[in-house]
Amino acid sequence: MCGIVAYIGAGQAQPILLEGLKRLEYRGYDSAGVAILDSAGLRVARSVGRVAKLEEKLEDLGGFRGTVGLAHTRWATHGSVTETNAHPHRDDRAGISIVHNGIIENYAAVKKYLQERGHRFQTETDTEVLAMLIGELYEGDLESAVQAALREVTGAYAIVVMCEREPDVLVAARKGSPLMLGIGNGEYVVASDPSAIVAHTTQAIALDDYNVARISRDGFRTSTIDNVEVTPKVMQLELDLEQIELGDYPHYMIKEIFEQPAALRNTMRGRMDTNEGKVVLGGLDSFAKELVRARKIILTAQGTALHAAMIGEYLLEDLAKIPCECEYASEFRYRNPIIDEGTVVIAVSQSGETADTLAALHEAKDRGALALGVVNSVGSTIARETDAGVYLRVGPEIGVASTKAFTGQVAVLTLVSMFMARRRFMSPEASARLIGEMEQIPGKIEKVLELDDEINRVTEKYVERNNWLFLGRGYNYPTAMEGALKLKEISYIHAEGMPAAEMKHGPIALIDEGMPVVFIANQGNQYEKVINNIEEVRSRGGHVIAVATEGDERIRAVAQDVIEVPEVSDCLSPLVTVVPLQLMAYHAAVLRGHDVDKPRNLAKSVTVE
Ligand code: M6R
Repeated sequence: MCGIVAYIGAGQAQPILLEGLKRLEYRGYDSAGVAILDSAGLRVARSVGRVAKLEEKLEDLGGFRGTVGLAHTRWATHGSVTETNAHPHRDDRAGISIVHNGIIENYAAVKKYLQERGHRFQTETDTEVLAMLIGELYEGDLESAVQAALREVTGAYAIVVMCEREPDVLVAARKGSPLMLGIGNGEYVVASDPSAIVAHTTQAIALDDYNVARISRDGFRTSTIDNVEVTPKVMQLELDLEQIELGDYPHYMIKEIFEQPAALRNTMRGRMDTNEGKVVLGGLDSFAKELVRARKIILTAQGTALHAAMIGEYLLEDLAKIPCECEYASEFRYRNPIIDEGTVVIAVSQSGETADTLAALHEAKDRGALALGVVNSVGSTIARETDAGVYLRVGPEIGVASTKAFTGQVAVLTLVSMFMARRRFMSPEASARLIGEMEQIPGKIEKVLELDDEINRVTEKYVERNNWLFLGRGYNYPTAMEGALKLKEISYIHAEGMPAAEMKHGPIALIDEGMPVVFIANQGNQYEKVINNIEEVRSRGGHVIAVATEGDERIRAVAQDVIEVPEVSDCLSPLVTVVPLQLMAYHAAVLRGHDVDKPRNLAKSVTVE
């Protein structure tokens, strides 16, 4: 939820930290702060709002000079959004400063203990409690003090700590929240996300839970919180700067919407063999037998990833004929789920760090399920903790509103379904046909993207309306949910997505003159039923915006506005029908003057419960 970046090396820390914070800002942006050790001691600047505000403040202060420092961009969990509550936090005795992502669950008890020992707190945050605890346990060695403090706390953390008394050392640690150490030439960058590292180095290690890294200019050491030495696994970050720059686009969201054809070509590259009618997924090969024999599949995720997983449920049942359930990870993890022999759980996540999805995965594994991941971020926690999986390969997604990850997730779930289907019931001919159709999808999305101006004009007609409905059936019921989520999260327009048939069971009461109702009305299996639902909305004064199949004259007769998409098989249709909904949400947010990439109250990756 928040972003961490820290630096130690020969260069000036301030510009490196600020540049890192800007790259991480999509992870949290209600306040930001920086601490740098210079010859006079610790210099700290914090401010409410965006990193640009912090930059202005640093300019007013004349800047900080020093070659070791840490910085943070915050998404508030404990304590309101104030400068005082912004990170870095400090202790009151040993010269400790700390940045922290996550939540210290037993902070109240620890705080009481520390207050009894005379510590005076300045903030309402759990992080300050951790700073004080490290200070309390400090006996001249920062690494030992951090290890000792972490043995006393419960909850989740990614932290970086410095101490005025050891000006050439940073200590980093993690449990349940991502943290990486970028290894440069005589310099190190610690960050919660590789995007803050790649400008400096592509060699990195991802810290594991309960691991601590002590970093100095001469090298680093990794250990557990019990001080057992750990051998680090150095990896190559496969992220180039161009992928995380805006280029000529005004926002990451629109860039990522337009990247979808290329991204999906990448998702599919080398994974489909039309001649043999086979899907090749290296990540699943060694579990092919278990998958063929699977008795039940449970898909679990949150938000947009859940909507993709819902489409996966339809696909797996339809194509692979395996009983399948899809569930919010946050519900699954707490409801005592029944995992029989032959249950496969698939966690779907862009970031691979969503706290609830990760916890659901742990729950499933503890109960004996085979755990698979459908993840975008390479090396993320979910990717590492699943038994096997398939990466999306859609490139980094920076916009808070997930777009290309959604189509990537749906594409991968289609491939997984076909991988199983072909080994179970699907004929080589049927499989080859579907593969052929999959290959056409990027081109069909390109055709939808050509309608961008038209979609903008349609959106403009309704953008002042504060209540919208999104309706679809079958494969496009989750698409309707996704359309509503996109609209509400960036334009702050209230929107509901649901199966079109559900409308009559209550929501129809909302429909009044001119209410925008978006129908996903492509010529799929339930086309006739959707037409009936459109008539019901029209007769109550609702304005129908239909996403329909190219050349469909019947829809033109019943809908006020029609956005045409190329013809596509029902099971692949969400990959195409979702695109106009993404564009509508984008244009609505721009027309309403919102910060598209950093919508209020949200953060890209929800790493707390
Ligand atoms: O990283 P994940 O895919 O696990 O994230 C899940 C949701 O938090 C995410 O999809 C969220 O709903 C997006 N803001 C939607 O655009």
